[in-house]
Amino acid sequence: MKKSINGILLLFLVSVLCLTEKIAGLTDTLTTTQSIKGDETIISAGGSFVLGFFSPSSSTNRYVGIWYNKIPNQTVVWVANREVPLISKSGVLEVIKPGLLVLRNDTNNTIWKSNSSTSAPNPVVQLLETGNLVVKDANQDDPGMFLWQSFDYPTDTSLPGMKLGHNFVTGLEVYLSSWKSPEDPSPGEYTHHCDSTGYPQNIVKKGSILRFRTGPWNGLGFSGVPSLQKNSIFSYEVVINSKEVYYSFKLLSSTITRYTLSPSGVGQRWTWDNQARSWIIYLSTPDDTCDSYGLCGAYGSCDTRISPICECLDKFSPKFPDKWNKGNWSNGCIRNVALDCQSGDGFKKYSGFKLPDTHNSSYNTNTSLKECRRICLKNCSCTAYSTLDISSGSGCLFWFGDLIDMKVISGAGQDIHVRMASSDSDSNGKKGKKLVISLALSLAMVLLSLGLVLLLQRRNKKRAKQKKEGMEGFNLSMAYTDERHKKDLELPLFELSRIIKATDNFSFNNKLGEGGFGPVYKGLLEEGQEVAVKRLSEHSTQGLEEFKNEAICIAKLQHRNLVKLLGCCIEGKEKILIYEYMPNKSLDFFIFDQTKRKSLDWLTRFHIIQGIARGLLYLHQDSRLRIIHRDLKASNILLDADMNPKISDFGTARSFGGNETGANTSRVVGTHGYMSPEYAVDGLFSVKSDVFSFGVLLIEIVSGKRNRGFLHHGHQFNLLGHAWKLYKEERALELVDLHLGNSYNSSEVLRSIHVGLLCVQQCPEDRPDMSSVIFMLGNEGHLPEATQPGFFMERNIVKADNSSSTQASSSKGEITMTQLEAR
Ligand SMILES: *[C@@H]1O[C@H](CO)[C@@H](O)[C@H](O)[C@H]1NC(C)=O
Ligand SMILES: *[C@@H]1O[C@H](CO)[C@@H](O)[C@H](O)[C@H]1NC(C)=O
Ligand SMILES: *[C@@H]1O[C@H](CO)[C@@H](O)[C@H](O)[C@H]1NC(C)=O
Ligand SMILES: *[C@@H]1O[C@H](CO)[C@@H](O)[C@H](O)[C@H]1NC(C)=O
Ligand SMILES: *[C@@H]1O[C@H](CO)[C@@H](O)[C@H](O)[C@H]1NC(C)=O
Ligand SMILES: *[C@@H]1O[C@H](CO)[C@@H](O)[C@H](O)[C@H]1NC(C)=O
Ligand SMILES: *[C@@H]1O[C@H](CO)[C@@H](O)[C@H](O)[C@H]1NC(C)=O
Ligand SMILES: *[C@@H]1O[C@H](CO)[C@@H](O)[C@H](O)[C@H]1NC(C)=O
Repeated sequence: MKKSINGILLLFLVSVLCLTEKIAGLTDTLTTTQSIKGDETIISAGGSFVLGFFSPSSSTNRYVGIWYNKIPNQTVVWVANREVPLISKSGVLEVIKPGLLVLRNDTNNTIWKSNSSTSAPNPVVQLLETGNLVVKDANQDDPGMFLWQSFDYPTDTSLPGMKLGHNFVTGLEVYLSSWKSPEDPSPGEYTHHCDSTGYPQNIVKKGSILRFRTGPWNGLGFSGVPSLQKNSIFSYEVVINSKEVYYSFKLLSSTITRYTLSPSGVGQRWTWDNQARSWIIYLSTPDDTCDSYGLCGAYGSCDTRISPICECLDKFSPKFPDKWNKGNWSNGCIRNVALDCQSGDGFKKYSGFKLPDTHNSSYNTNTSLKECRRICLKNCSCTAYSTLDISSGSGCLFWFGDLIDMKVISGAGQDIHVRMASSDSDSNGKKGKKLVISLALSLAMVLLSLGLVLLLQRRNKKRAKQKKEGMEGFNLSMAYTDERHKKDLELPLFELSRIIKATDNFSFNNKLGEGGFGPVYKGLLEEGQEVAVKRLSEHSTQGLEEFKNEAICIAKLQHRNLVKLLGCCIEGKEKILIYEYMPNKSLDFFIFDQTKRKSLDWLTRFHIIQGIARGLLYLHQDSRLRIIHRDLKASNILLDADMNPKISDFGTARSFGGNETGANTSRVVGTHGYMSPEYAVDGLFSVKSDVFSFGVLLIEIVSGKRNRGFLHHGHQFNLLGHAWKLYKEERALELVDLHLGNSYNSSEVLRSIHVGLLCVQQCPEDRPDMSSVIFMLGNEGHLPEATQPGFFMERNIVKADNSSSTQASSSKGEITMTQLEAR
């Protein structure tokens, strides 16, 4: 723009420039006579997005990017020069003829430019209200005539209206690529594509290796992402025709939402919580171990609830049994009876699955399932078919070649009809159906009891096996290899002498309480900082490696609703963790105390409930490391000076490598009154067992009463049962702590109780996950009816103790139990 121009013209230009300098920051458009530099920005017409220069987190490199205007923490959604940063404060962004957006550095070198093959007589660049930055002619608003748009070259973020997929006319593929790290926006290892070979599916790749599929669109959602359901925030759009194939989403409400691909390959759907002023992860994929692509090989099926998690489909057997039994499932399974297309095959229906990889598939619309079968049967290379659109029940999807990457989806899985030799197919079984029915009736009783016996035996065997294979000790190092190679223990190591000094040699006077794995002391460091010192008792079953892993794990967790670990100390037999000190002790000191309870008004209680929920969500969904706390209870919620809740005591927490959601253990660790039935009785724990504990906690906070030991002369229910009874009788407000008087928002209270009851439902699948909990707590709207809670009578806990030796390690009213199965 500073071309050598002479005389009056220059003067005129200077005055125009001065004018535009002032406008910068208000306008959404740059013309060829304008530019932005330094702190100047342009803002989209409705004020939603800003374009300007920024530096990501701790980096000093500067980039041109787009971020949300109204969100306090800068959230960058697009970066122009992601590979070539500016290294100084200078840099000029301008649009030049015949229609290029260019970024120049100090020495006037172009370090980034938009590219387009067309030109415009009067090019301008405009930041649209959607967050799309476009180069176009000043007088042209037709999207089809844009010279260039940032939505065609996204970085790691997909915004509403962006089309991820293929344009066959221009040959352009729009896909996401992760940042290298939060400090470095250059393309990282992971990419998110819409694979348009066969029936389109969303895939995430690491380099050239497929890591995760959403599964094909089935008319209602993605076959492999059952938690993505019809919602009031956004809807998906799928367009498949000869010109283009893409997935996009559009907003249905004013809630701000975006989808990102994290540097570690996790796809995250975020929504902005205006009340809490923070981003919430609404959904995150992959969701569990079974989501890692092709884990169980061809014709294998993956189910996290069983052990081992891979099984061959019925009528299939491991290709290499030796390898399979050793846990290398990648070679998959083969048919028990080979196909024989010439003499006639049949089909067998498998229900409840994420549909296999559709890379080698074809489809048609408007066909009935019967027709699909006929078409598939005719072509010898067609291996399976299913309904294309389950919302209308029409259309077919055909697979050619092996079926890979199937996963059991309980409750929401789909049917697939797999080609089988006629002896193994369903139609074969239909002969003599009548006979079977009459036989079945008479045999039913016998089979039922036999089945029960077998089931019990199998469960026991499984547990025994797990123990043998050492699945017990939790191995964070496996989940952690990536991080660990980079930086080992980043955690400060404290000298034992320093701790002894700070706690006055672990004096009784400094003892704050007893945690699950040992006593906790208050300490005063020489610098004057107050700390909480957790000393692992000698009897603790934790090994050194596990302890270290735990320390690293907690050190990596950073959230304002989690207690902060300051360091650790490992000397001789001593294993010590040093935490920040919480002046207000723990939640149980407040809610269960006659006088202190009065100081907790509803607002504070609601704030605490929401804080715990956020902390828990972070544990459950944090990208790399999924943590199941397993011992959530009032005494493990610490309160800082401002009554912000902080989840503590990770002694029993389990980590999963960013994918599994649960497991099975024969060592049940937790606290009665907070433990979910499936965990206390069967040792099955998952994020949903934490959700159960959260529900108990929530109802305790609202009522000011303990679940365990709750007594009511009218009935024999515990607090949960009592709450549920009141809820059913529409008297839920009677549950509220009398100390609250009338100073509460009754709709908020009712909503909280309702959400609490949803969390403690008997069946883990019925309980919401934490992102839904947060959403339900913070938003008006219909809530599903709560069904009967698990453990609503005090008595039905007792049977969990029968076959196990129970070891308690606490002196307080609540006890963290460690049950060791007598096996
Ligand atoms: C920067 O480049 C433009 C055109 O490329 C040129 O007209 C101008 O003189 C250059 N300025 C400096 C300071 O080099
Ligand atoms: C500007 O970019 C050019 C080309 O990338 C580079 O050689 C030069 O060092 C850069 N100048 C500054 C000051 O960054
Ligand atoms: C724009 O640049 C990309 C990569 O730099 C290239 O693949 C693409 O063909 C270019 N598009 C046009 C229209 O020149
Ligand atoms: C926003 O930034 C503030 C301070 O910069 C920080 O304390 C807070 O945790 C951030 N919030 C989110 C949601 O990142
Ligand atoms: C599993 O088996 C495959 C093929 O036989 C082999 O390439 C792979 O390295 C094995 N994986 C492990 C972890 O042993
Ligand atoms: C698709 O077919 C090709 C060619 O037969 C094969 O190499 C590839 O493994 C198949 N992919 C899947 C996912 O079945
Ligand atoms: C499918 O059926 C619907 C209604 O029966 C019809 O409107 C539509 O044109 C059909 N589509 C195709 C591709 O045959
Ligand atoms: C079977 O289907 C495949 C894939 O669509 C196709 O290439 C092949 O020609 C078909 N074979 C017959 C006999 O129709």
